[in-house]
Formats: sequence, structure tokens, C-alpha cells
Amino acid sequence: MKSSERILQLLQESSAVCLSGEEISRNLGISRSAVWKQIKTLRDGGFNIEAEAARGYRLIGAPDRLSSTVIAHKLAVKRVGQKVVVLDEVVSTNSVAFRMAEEGEPEGTVVIAEGQSGGKGRLGRVWSSPKGVNLYCSVILRPMIQPMAAPQMTFLSVVATARAIEKLTGLEPRIKWPNDILVSGKKVAGLLNEMSAETDKVNFLILGIGVNLNMTVDQFPGDLRHPATSLFLESGLQLDRTAFAKCLIQELDELYGEFLLKGYDPARGEWLRRSRLEGAFVTVTDSGVTRSGRVTGIDSFGALLLDSGEQILSGDVRIGE
Ligand code: BTN
Repeated sequence: MKSSERILQLLQESSAVCLSGEEISRNLGISRSAVWKQIKTLRDGGFNIEAEAARGYRLIGAPDRLSSTVIAHKLAVKRVGQKVVVLDEVVSTNSVAFRMAEEGEPEGTVVIAEGQSGGKGRLGRVWSSPKGVNLYCSVILRPMIQPMAAPQMTFLSVVATARAIEKLTGLEPRIKWPNDILVSGKKVAGLLNEMSAETDKVNFLILGIGVNLNMTVDQFPGDLRHPATSLFLESGLQLDRTAFAKCLIQELDELYGEFLLKGYDPARGEWLRRSRLEGAFVTVTDSGVTRSGRVTGIDSFGALLLDSGEQILSGDVRIGE
């Protein structure tokens, strides 16, 4: 960890009181003038650090820029979020996480970026990812499951995202099968899982999560197939992106821990409740083929079950005929 990151950590830990330059220099084993230089670096990076004569330094505010140190600070997690990597602009956090996993990165590592130049959406679509306003995040997991069971891991990321939205905004998100999250009928978040597997074993999974936090109307592309929105547009609140990232990671860690003990049932139950799909009449379109029927449930592979007896594994679902 760099000296500036260590200082930031110390200042966060003692945010209520001033920390003297002497204490910091002793703690890090660097000179007082080196401490001062690092404080200047942090200030140049947008951190508001107050200096009081004879008392020391105090952290007053952090920039609206994501930082792995700030996100990881006091994260009480067992697996997901053990390591958080924050990058500036990447093509896709899913691609970065995939490469890291191929190179042996342990499970639980979370890759977050300020922006994506080629954010991947479902069915080959592009996920609009302007810089500095939303959350783009990918999580590496290595569960001992069969490849066929992998789609069910989406239950965990969808439910974790819905919980975080509810906790931080008070809005009531609804899950739209298979992995969209809507507020007032408009999409605020999308999930995209990718996997590396052999015939009978998953090597690793990447859970990709994109949440529109503070995006404004003019930042949405004009050609979106589905009406989209952001949590800011729906709640009128500027979301604290760090607080959202922390909450999401914590929820996902809890759900993953529960999954390891009890399997998919708890997350699937919550998914069904939050989707309000059970009993609804739906029309599903997949590669030009349309099927309609009343939803009787969702099976253990994440497929939608219709009263016609059909099991639907993929497609775009619409409530109504
Ligand atoms: C969808 O089409 O609904 C899925 C969108 C998934 C977007 C997220 S943003 C973080 C991660 N990285 C990507 O390239 N895609 C996912």
C-alpha cells in the first residue's frame, strides 16, 4: 500500500479527532516532511484535509471518486470484497476481472471502474457507462458447481443489488426476469455473468453488475431499447457511490455465504418475491420466437416456468400479451 493510502486509512480511522504529523510519521516510519508531501498529494486528489496548528490533520471530505482504500475501509466481509480494485476507465470490468481470474486471482476480488468504453450488456448489447456517475463492478467467484447450475448465481447478484437500492434510497426495486432491476417500470441496473468452465466443473464466474446511480437524462443514449433511468432521477437524491459500492459488496458477501451453506433456495425465494412475476401473464421473445403464458415459478436453473409447461431459459420478458 502506498504511503498516501496508508495516511488516508489512518485519517479515516480517526476522522473524529486530529492526527498529528508526528503520530503519522511514527506510524508509517517516514519523516514529517514526507507526511506533509503525501497530505498535499491527497489534497491534490480532491481530499479535503484540514490542518490545525499544533493539533494535526483531520479528514473532512473525500472526492466523488471511487477509491479502493475508502471502499475497503471497515468492510466486514468474509469472501466478497476481501480485495477491491478500483480502476479509472477500462473497456469492461467483466473483461478485466476475467483476465485476472485466468491469471489465478482468488475468489472474492471485486473490480470496479469509474467508466467503461465498451461496457457489455446482455445479448451482445452495449452497456452505457459514462465516467464518474454510476457503478460498474465485476466480482470473481470460484464456487464448486456444475456449469449447468451457473445461471443461478445471478439470483445472488440481482438480490444483492435490489437490497442495496432499497437500503440506500428507500425505493422499491422490482426484478425483471432474468436479470434486470426496474424502478417505476424503468431499468436502473443490469447484471451480466460470464464463466470459464470445463465439461463438469466451473473454473470461475464473473458476476458483472451495472447500476445507474447519478446519471442524468442527457447522459442516456437515445437508442435504448428499454426505458432506462437512474436512482438519482427516481429519488431526487445524489447517491454516494462509495456507500453504494460498500453496501452492494456487503450484501453480496452475505448472500454468497448463505449460498455456500444452504444452496440457492434462500436467494431464489427472495428473487421470486421481488420479481412479483409469479401468477403474471407474460410474453417472452427470444431470437424472434414469442411465447406467452402465466408464470408458475422459476426452476432450479433459473428458467422461467409457464402454465403451458414450457421452460424458458432466455429471452426478453414483458408483462402482458
Ligand atoms: C444488461 O444488459 O442488462 C447487463 C448489463 C451489465 C453491465 C455491467 S457493468 C459492469 C460489468 N461490466 C460489463 O462490461 N458489463 C457489466
